[in-house]
Amino acid sequence: MNSKKICIVGASGKLGRYMIQQALDRGYEVVGVCRERSVSKLEAFKGRITVIPGATNDCQVIKKAVAGCDGVLTVLVPWGVHQYATGTAQAVLDYAQPGARLIFSCGWHISRDGQDVYPQSLKRDEKLARWLGRLTHLIDIDDQVEACRRVFVSDTRWTVVRGSDLEEGESQGLPVWSKHVGDPILESNITRRVDYALFMVAALENDSLIHEAPAIVGCRTPSALAHTSAAQ
Ligand SMILES: NC(=O)c1ccc[n+]([C@@H]2O[C@H](COP(=O)([O-])OP(=O)(O)OC[C@H]3O[C@@H](n4cnc5c(N)ncnc54)[C@H](OP(=O)(O)O)[C@@H]3O)[C@@H](O)[C@H]2O)c1
Repeated sequence: MNSKKICIVGASGKLGRYMIQQALDRGYEVVGVCRERSVSKLEAFKGRITVIPGATNDCQVIKKAVAGCDGVLTVLVPWGVHQYATGTAQAVLDYAQPGARLIFSCGWHISRDGQDVYPQSLKRDEKLARWLGRLTHLIDIDDQVEACRRVFVSDTRWTVVRGSDLEEGESQGLPVWSKHVGDPILESNITRRVDYALFMVAALENDSLIHEAPAIVGCRTPSALAHTSAAQ
């Protein structure tokens, strides 16, 4: 069993709760951060994790939550127009203990080096999200972009896991990944959310992913099955 301590920032969401379960299964001690109003979503884990309620972009909340943690799993979401994702990423970068493994989640639309080739459907969705965001002030894609830019230039031990479209369902196993969207192995563009969580948690112990921004896809999808042996 593993006796390391980790923090999950954004623990009450769907991805966060899957990550909690998988981290507990692996023997980690878990600290979870979520908005005060969402603490009840973590009821199922009562007594098994430490919950720190608060905004994830609040430095004092993050400072307290990540103290003594060997790893931090951060769910970056583009909600709101107050640089929530950027503030969250910056707080984690600033306060995680030196040498901690930092794993961040985002979507395929984030590009580390501009070498990704996006399907038309994804370009359309992003355009729509930006338009809706400007209209409703509920979502700000550029906030997640800026959050990841700050992670990419940091000298911490980071990994940014870029998720494809997600679906619910039983685990199919660890997703496969590639450096760039547009690579044939990713073509199916679907991952089970539970397996996204699996990849995030497994990344804590996978040093070959340090300073990588893997774009992931489900390991049982047609494109993964067709191209996995070639990729390896
Ligand atoms: N959904 C997709 O199809 C998709 C595709 C690719 C990548 N991803 C990535 O996967 C990760 C998880 O996404 P998900 O869609 O599956 O969502 P999720 O796991 O349900 O998480 C949503 C998170 O956003 C928080 N949140 C919701 N509304 C908020 C608000 N107004 N202000 C601040 N925080 C708010 C939630 O906190 P509360 O519990 O407090 O509400 C929760 O922590 C994200 O990094 C996302 O970019 C998602």
